[in-house]
Order: sequence, then structure tokens, then C-alpha cells
Amino acid sequence: MKKVALTGIKPTGIPHIGNYLGAIQPALKLSESCEARYFIADYHALNSTKDPAVIKRMTVEIAAAWLACGLDPQKVLFYRQSGVPETFELLTILLAFTPKGLMNRAHAYKAMIQANAASGKDPDEGVNMGLYTYPVLMAADILLFDTDYVPVGNDQFQHVEMAVDIAQSFNHIYATQAIKLPQAVAQDNYKTVVGLDGRKMSKSYGNIIPLFASEKQLRKLVMKIVTNSQSIAEPKDPDSCNVFALYKCFAKEEQVEALREKYLAGGMGWGYAKQQLFELMNETLRPYRLRYEELMQNQDYIYQVLAEGSQKARALAAQKIASLRKIIGID
Ligand code: ADP
Ligand code: TRP
Repeated sequence: MKKVALTGIKPTGIPHIGNYLGAIQPALKLSESCEARYFIADYHALNSTKDPAVIKRMTVEIAAAWLACGLDPQKVLFYRQSGVPETFELLTILLAFTPKGLMNRAHAYKAMIQANAASGKDPDEGVNMGLYTYPVLMAADILLFDTDYVPVGNDQFQHVEMAVDIAQSFNHIYATQAIKLPQAVAQDNYKTVVGLDGRKMSKSYGNIIPLFASEKQLRKLVMKIVTNSQSIAEPKDPDSCNVFALYKCFAKEEQVEALREKYLAGGMGWGYAKQQLFELMNETLRPYRLRYEELMQNQDYIYQVLAEGSQKARALAAQKIASLRKIIGID
């Protein structure tokens, strides 16, 4: 029996190169060896976004991004969280097994109340109950599908551990193994992709290169990557260079070595290195960009894929909920 890998993708922000290399690509790789269940975590976005147009647009864009990058909906169960309302029934069940103190320890919530306190505000300002109980909703997403592995970034490990705590509490009280205990897995070949300014590429730093940037926009962004003020003649250190760091994410070993030698030899200007990076990225990303644009022209198809996936996911979820309702005496 194949192991079940499940992950949720929040429909916030346009996908960037860091998301692609750090999350999308490794998750698609994992789907070759596991039974993969990947979903758009739309209700998670409601905690922070109250603009219906934004949620709608992001849902389609993120789904298109995954499909453009090669997610095959015949092989991966691809659905919307909102298309599986059993999730919210499980949430209600799990809330009864979640100590309030556990939620107080969640990093995201703690960071918010600390930031409020630091700026002299009421600690709970801007904290809604959805945000506060967010780890329980995430636990419901995971536990509903008998998940073995949860591929996520390190920032999400704590949430998966909380899902395990909640599941164990349920299993212990009813002396059952009805809820499978999941395990967070670091994204295979995970490395931090640097942004235009050399910090981690992140939408919160405003230093991203969008995955589907047009050729023109891509060139403009690559030319903006921060370098030092060394002259053309001077030999340069590839290992401290942001352009080189990004080049390594896309290039084959021979290409990396060839560019490294140019850096070390001197006589190479930043413009040259950036042009090499631009050409390589453009060539690599062009097919994805074209596929993405095509999908965005045909949004009915995207909705249809998600609706079909959600229907299949619901059938699985309904069985799980029925078995849990028996255990708790609400059947
Ligand atoms: P952002 O930092 O832009 O808000 P998210 O937190 O939404 O990005 O990222 C979603 C996932 O994409 C992360 O869990 C992580 O796996 C991956 N990711 C994001 N930024 C990077 C990066 N710079 N390098 C590698 N992976 C990244
Ligand atoms: N919390 C995750 C994030 O912020 C998204 C998410 C929601 C998720 N439900 C999940 C991830 C279930 C893995 C499994 O990125």
C-alpha cells in the first residue's frame, strides 16, 4: 500500500520561484511514490483576507500554477478545502479534544500577540478565532484523509505536531487507533532560494521573482538583483553572489562550473552574469508560463478539475466521518 502524502496550499500571493523550487517541485516529485492529496486551503485564507474577489482570483491562480507545473489531476487528488465540508465537521469534533493551552503555544498566534504587545496595543488586537484555532482546522485537513506524510516548510512543522497531539488525545480517550498519526516531512531537496536583495525570497520581503513573470518582467527583475560594485576587470566570488545563487537553482553542473570560472577569472561584468541567468531562467520557465496562460484563458476547466477532485475527496471524507461518528456516539 502506498503512503498518503497530503498538503494544503493557501490561496494567497502570486507564486514565486521560491515556492516553485521549495514547495511545488518537491511535492510533485513526492506524488510519484505516494498517493498524493493536494488541496487549496481556501478557508484558511478567510482568516486574513475579507475581499471575495481576492480569494476567488487567488484560488484560480494557485490551482492554475500547480496544473501548469505538471500536477496531473488523474494521479493526484486535487481539490478545494471548501469542496469537502466534512472537514468542518471534523474540526468541530477535534475542537473538543484540543486544549486551549495548546493553541496559546502556536508560533503564528504567539508572534502576533508579541508584536501587539511590543507596539503597546491590546495583545489580542487583530486576532480572530479563526486565526487562533487555525492549527485545529489544519489538523482536520490532515486527519480526515489518513495522512502519513505532510510535505511542508519548516514553519509548518509545529502545526503538524499539534495535529498529532490532538489525534493522540482522541485515540487515547476512546482507546482506538482510528485516527492515523501523520508526520511532517521537510521538502525533499529543500533549499532556501534567495530573492532580489539576497534575503530569503518571500512575498513579505517584496523581493520575489514571480514564477510566471513575462519575459520582459523577468529580464527587468533579474537586472535588479543586488550585486556589489566591483569593476568588470576584478575577479569575483561566485559563492557570495545572489546572481550565482539563483543561477545554481536552474543550471546543470557543467553550466555552474563554466560560470564559476568566468567569475574567478575576472573580466566579467555583472551585466554578463545577469544575462546568463535571465536566458537560463527564461528558457526553463517559458513552457510553464505558456501553459499557465493557456489555463488562465480556460478557467472553467480549472473549476471543473477542482470540482471533480472535491467530489472524490468528499467520498473518502464521508467514510472517515461516519466511522468517527460511531466512535463518539453521534451516529
Ligand atoms: P512566502 O514566504 O513568500 O510568504 P509561503 O510561506 O507562502 O511564501 O511559502 C509556501 C511554501 O513555499 C513554503 O512552505 C516553502 O516550502 C516554500 N518557500 C517559500 N519561500 C521559499 C524560498 N525562498 N526558498 C525555498 N522555499 C520557499
Ligand atoms: N498552514 C499551511 C500554510 O500556511 C497551509 C495548510 C492548510 C496546510 N492546511 C494544511 C498544509 C494541511 C499542510 C497540510 O502553508
